[in-house]
Amino acid sequence: MGLTFDKNSYEVKSITVNGEDLVYRAYEGIPYVESPQSELQVINIYIPEKSPYKEGRMPIFLPNTVGGYMPGKADTPKVWEDGTPNSLVQALLRGYMVAAPGLRGRGMKNEKGENIGVAPADICDYKAAVRYLRYNKEHIPGDTEKIISNGTSAGGAMSALLGTTGNHPDYEPYLDAIGAVKERDDIFYASCYCPIINLEHADAAYEWEFFGLWDCHQGKYIPPEHTGEEGKWVPVVRQMTEEQKKVSEELKNQFALYVKNLGLTDALGVPLVLEEEGGTLRDLLCWYILQSADEAVKQGENLEPYGWLLARGGEIVAMDYQMYIKYRTRMKDTPAFDKFNLTTPENELFGNTVHERRHFTEYSHKHSCSNGEMAEPLQIKMMNPMEYVSDERAVKAQHIRIRHGAIDRDTSVFIPLLFAVLLQNNGVSVDLAYPWGKWHMGDYDLEKVFDEVDSMEAYK
Ligand code: DHB
Repeated sequence: MGLTFDKNSYEVKSITVNGEDLVYRAYEGIPYVESPQSELQVINIYIPEKSPYKEGRMPIFLPNTVGGYMPGKADTPKVWEDGTPNSLVQALLRGYMVAAPGLRGRGMKNEKGENIGVAPADICDYKAAVRYLRYNKEHIPGDTEKIISNGTSAGGAMSALLGTTGNHPDYEPYLDAIGAVKERDDIFYASCYCPIINLEHADAAYEWEFFGLWDCHQGKYIPPEHTGEEGKWVPVVRQMTEEQKKVSEELKNQFALYVKNLGLTDALGVPLVLEEEGGTLRDLLCWYILQSADEAVKQGENLEPYGWLLARGGEIVAMDYQMYIKYRTRMKDTPAFDKFNLTTPENELFGNTVHERRHFTEYSHKHSCSNGEMAEPLQIKMMNPMEYVSDERAVKAQHIRIRHGAIDRDTSVFIPLLFAVLLQNNGVSVDLAYPWGKWHMGDYDLEKVFDEVDSMEAYK
């Protein structure tokens, strides 16, 4: 097989960060499958000159750059204009090996005009990259039993999938088709920032959360060339139609039923449900949000202006859920993910070689105004980490870390919560937090990820 890593074929590079030079070996643009469909299916490997880890014991940081389910190029070490290092530089500074693969995504076509980035192309590429590393474990200084995936939003979904579907046979034919090596593809640790997951239930979750809020608040970026001033975000508010309000109610009701059927419990064994005016799942969400507020107070934030929080003796003790949701504001109109006219990123994700866009919920398929087709159940399943949590054939990461900003409205706050509880109920180590003041973004506390990885095993 021509996929043997050549450890002698590198360039020495360096980057200045915080006034110091970080020196590393760069192996860039290496194909990680035998039959790539695109130039994007390459991996960049970086090895720091200085590391506290012994040869063969370096943790391997495996970031992806997928956003909006679009193609994500193999990343490179960068320091942003304000001096902050990107995730790769942060990992190299900690002495980790970095392996950054490019993953296919929606919108990609081959020369025959066929769609080659539709699901499950992105996650299969991610898995193939893991297999490539294991195949070459004798040739790299990294420890292939310490692979840490990381991504944000759709990239967070990739990380969540990698962390929950290790070695599952569903993906095998797709991995065969691209010429992935025959190796395990389970990983050690999945870091998932605001993962956009559970897409087939995300419309219902969105309406359970935002039903009754009919203004959609979306920002719009005005570039400097239009105004002669600095680029800026301006608020855009749109109103939902009467028809959308009816749809919202139907979807909202679906969600409570879905939650009931999941049969989840909290740590004490109490069933987690949603009722018209609350329910134990909503209470659990509030517990997480209060934790977030508490943490913000500890960091010195003044939370007095937040009228939905109740403080006693300097401590946050309660919150008004409805006011919290109003404060978050609705961003997407109904349905949020599977649009009747097939216009979302997710509709394109669920295309196939010939169909550009398809539905992935029965509800929107039934209401399609574009005569849209429905994606196959297996394609939908392969994009949903929830589907693999209780499946023993899917090897789980030893730890899954989920962060969803407390003001992130790209998906409902209940989506990461259900994922975390399902993992917990199935004995998978997981931690979830809704960081205060964070919207739809990632990588803001990667040092904690690295600290945690280091503390999981003292093996330097
Ligand atoms: C992303 C954001 C979305 O709102 C969405 O529906 C899918 C993906 C993203 O930022 O990756």
